[in-house]
Amino acid sequence: MVNEVRKAAPDVFITFSYPPDTIAVTEQARLQSFNPKLMYTGVGTAFALFKQRFADNADGVLSLGGVTADSAAVQDYIARHREVVGQEPDRWASLVTYAGLQVLQQAIEQAGTLDRAQVSARIATAPPSWSFPSPSGRRPPRVDHAARPDALCARPREARRCAIVCAMFEPLVPAHAIAADSAVPFSPVYGDVYHAAAGAFAQAEHVFIAGNGLPERWRGRADFTVLETGFGLGLNFLALWRAWRADPARSERLHVVSVEAHPFTRDELASWLRDLVPGELRVQADALLAAWPPLLPGLHSLSFEQGRMRLTLAFGKAAAIVPRLSLAADAYFLDGFAPARNPEMWSDALIAALAEHAAPGATAATWASAGQVRRALAAVGFAVRKRPGFAGKRDMTVAEHPVGGACGRRVLAQRRTPGRALVVGAGVAGAGVAHALAARGWAVDVVAPDDAAHAGHAAAALTPTIDPGDSVRARLARAGAGLAHGTWRPVIAPTLADAGETAVAWRLGTVQVAPRRQLRSDEAYARWREGLSALGFPADWLRLIDAADAAELAGQPVGRGGAWLPAGLLVRPGRLQRWLLEAPGVRRVRARVARLAAGDAGWTAYDEAGRACAGGEVLVLACAGGTADLARASDIAWPLGDALQAVAGQITYLPEDLVAGLPRCVVAGDGYVLPALDGRGVAGSTYDHATQPGMPAPASAEGHARNLEHLRALLPQAAWPAHADWRGWAGWRAVLPGRLPAIGALPGAAGVFVATAYASRGLSHCALAGALIASHLSGTPAPIEADLQAAIGPGRAAGA
Ligand SMILES: Cc1cc2nc3c(=O)[nH]c(=O)nc-3n(C[C@H](O)[C@H](O)[C@H](O)COP(=O)(O)OP(=O)(O)OC[C@H]3O[C@@H](n4cnc5c(N)ncnc54)[C@H](O)[C@@H]3O)c2cc1C
Ligand SMILES: C[S@@+](CC[C@H](N)C(=O)[O-])C[C@H]1O[C@@H](n2cnc3c(N)ncnc32)[C@H](O)[C@@H]1O
Repeated sequence: MVNEVRKAAPDVFITFSYPPDTIAVTEQARLQSFNPKLMYTGVGTAFALFKQRFADNADGVLSLGGVTADSAAVQDYIARHREVVGQEPDRWASLVTYAGLQVLQQAIEQAGTLDRAQVSARIATAPPSWSFPSPSGRRPPRVDHAARPDALCARPREARRCAIVCAMFEPLVPAHAIAADSAVPFSPVYGDVYHAAAGAFAQAEHVFIAGNGLPERWRGRADFTVLETGFGLGLNFLALWRAWRADPARSERLHVVSVEAHPFTRDELASWLRDLVPGELRVQADALLAAWPPLLPGLHSLSFEQGRMRLTLAFGKAAAIVPRLSLAADAYFLDGFAPARNPEMWSDALIAALAEHAAPGATAATWASAGQVRRALAAVGFAVRKRPGFAGKRDMTVAEHPVGGACGRRVLAQRRTPGRALVVGAGVAGAGVAHALAARGWAVDVVAPDDAAHAGHAAAALTPTIDPGDSVRARLARAGAGLAHGTWRPVIAPTLADAGETAVAWRLGTVQVAPRRQLRSDEAYARWREGLSALGFPADWLRLIDAADAAELAGQPVGRGGAWLPAGLLVRPGRLQRWLLEAPGVRRVRARVARLAAGDAGWTAYDEAGRACAGGEVLVLACAGGTADLARASDIAWPLGDALQAVAGQITYLPEDLVAGLPRCVVAGDGYVLPALDGRGVAGSTYDHATQPGMPAPASAEGHARNLEHLRALLPQAAWPAHADWRGWAGWRAVLPGRLPAIGALPGAAGVFVATAYASRGLSHCALAGALIASHLSGTPAPIEADLQAAIGPGRAAGA
């Protein structure tokens, strides 16, 4: 990013970023000697970490103001903070929060009660400046929002050209609602109710369902897609689900994509739904709660009714996430809080972004009747009408988009009626795609020789990548883990004691110890932890732990602290592969494909003897390191394939006499160690760049020694006897530069898809690739954002 910006030679460089990105951007600017006339890097600049890291280089970098840095009160606060906490406070929220809490404390003390109304009145009627110090003796600094920027800021020099870069990551802030009059949930943040007092379900029926011409409009359709702004408590969603179930002529499948900046925690959602949902929707509400994802930014695909009802929750600010969706919307439910209270949800820019996703003939409905909303809809091609509003409200708005938006039309143009699909490769990549296509009605031929290449891969781990910079790899692994948990749900067991015979995976969690490079110094380790904690992940996804916590979780002494990831899975890759390929509609063809040829009816695969062995209208190349060669032999142009490499590696089996020393969850860091399955543990894994592709991958004594080195660093206190005769398994990984996979449609080759280069993350990409390719072919909402799709697109440049 900094490279790109530097090339544009701007006078002004502004990034709005959280600490990890602020640090990364500034570091890159420093390394590249990029020194524009004016540089602004809020908000990370306001943290003590920034000054520690950049020392004198921090001078001249602009950031946001907020406090009068050289006032005696601020200096006093900083000194006391250092005394108590051992480091300086940030200049971002620390002082303001402290002052705010002082105001609250004094208002309570003066009101002599905790009664909300009386305390609020006390604050509202207080003299403009509070009398400090407070009775507790603590003197807060004066907060002056109009003050000049703080000490890190310098005067801008003359500036003309401007470059503005926005970082993607924003931690999610969960919602909290209180009961307003007549028990309607009310948001204190937005100052508005979640639904009309006359009833959420009646409102949903009148405004959103009838307002969009439903149920009639979904009749006779295979797929129907609704895009909602503001998922809130999911009451519209549940009302829609009820209407769809109740209609015998409903579409075969219903897809709902709902955008939400402040999702509720599962507990709070459950408590509201208990009160608000009528008895006949209890089952659906419970299913929603059971599938409710961890509160992580990005997309979450939930599947109900054997996949016929799909909900994609898009967690994040609508303005940031709507442009990154891929779907063709047939109906819009516009349900932000009132435009006057929440203008961001109704801005012209957001309505234009929403309209981009319209399918031709898409309709929109909202209870809002503000002129600005109507004008914004009309400006982007909607024909807008008024209708009588709900429960005595004079008007509501309905609209229709006759031509549809560019993105919506593009998604529909890719759609194909399910027919026959040809998948080359039967590893987790091919099997994952075949399973997803079969679930959408495709008859799938999966062609691969009878290969025992992965037979010895006794156990593996699905552990989401974590990264303080929240890189594309981390976002992708997060999405992949969510999709794997959803897709493999029937064969995931909660503990090792469960379903030993049939389970494919066990949700045991991962202790992810800090990687070695973060342990070079206390400062690097602290930075790593601070960076992770700045991401604001919920504890059911990531919790920072010390070595003692790690030992408690693993049931064995662990070398160091790091993070606990409850979503970590222990997986039997062979069983997973078999289970995916057993899906009805999948046919396994045993052959090595030498060449593929395109004809009128699609693609035909020819084996090494030149015999046609399988065929399909669409082709998925999922043969790991062999993918590029097969594409070349078949005259399929795939430039990125030239960069595909095969890297060998091995795992080490830890035999029965060592089982007592093994952990009860996955322990990963530099290498990993897995709990015992069938009396045998696994330590992994090596990267062997010396063995040439085409040779059998060797499991060598040297490789075992390296795995045992990993093991000793992870579990240092266990006594690992020196076995003369270690055993294990060695195999190949297919890798592209940047270690991102290639998943998606191959540009310039209609009906050809690639699913390869899964590197060391085969399990993380398996369900994701299936869901992505299946959504592309069915013209239904994509499970990951467009920028992630581009990052893993097979059409990207090798260096991208
Ligand atoms: C030592 C080691 C440890 C690992 N540990 C983990 C781990 O813990 N967690 C994790 O997520 N990942 C792990 N991986 C990575 C993971 O194994 C891979 O990412 C994954 O196996 C890739 O799956 P794939 O289907 O792309 O490739 P493969 O499993 O190699 O399958 C390729 C398929 O293509 C077929 N094929 C090839 N050429 C042709 C052709 N011409 N015609 C027909 N068929 C063809 C092959 O027969 C095979 O069926 C590990 C890898 C190694 C080597
Ligand atoms: C009226 S409520 C939606 C009620 C919901 N449709 C239901 O059926 O329960 C509005 C929702 O919009 C969300 N919201 C507000 N501003 C947002 C934004 N900028 N981006 C995404 N969601 C936002 C709020 O958090 C809230 O949940």
